[in-house]
Amino acid sequence: MVLDMTIIHKVTIHYRQANKTISLDVPDGENILQYFESSDIKLPYLCRNGCCTVCAVRILSGKLDQSDGIGLSRNMQKKGYGLLCIAKAIDSVELETQDEDEVYQIQFGKYLGDIKNEPGNPFDI
Ligand code: FES
Repeated sequence: MVLDMTIIHKVTIHYRQANKTISLDVPDGENILQYFESSDIKLPYLCRNGCCTVCAVRILSGKLDQSDGIGLSRNMQKKGYGLLCIAKAIDSVELETQDEDEVYQIQFGKYLGDIKNEPGNPFDI
């Protein structure tokens, strides 16, 4: 008899823009965005490297390992924000998707103003 000793964390995401709540049991240390995608659950993302903040969520309860990300200041992490694309499951967590550009505006709005993403804008990718 082989016992599976994998530690599992319940990850619940309130995907507000899609008007749905999704929960999965995620193995300890797994990347949350990738794990949800492996279950055919699509969540918001763009760069997938912890830089753009499109995948930002509010952490309602629990903790995330965000040590791989650079797009979210320590201050924003302390305020309870996380990035799904670099977050690893280390605790059972309840998360909710941010308002559009919420984290971007809080972190960079004071420096960049209210730049609209129009064709030809130098910030287009
Ligand atoms: S997809 Fe860009 S920070 Fe997560």
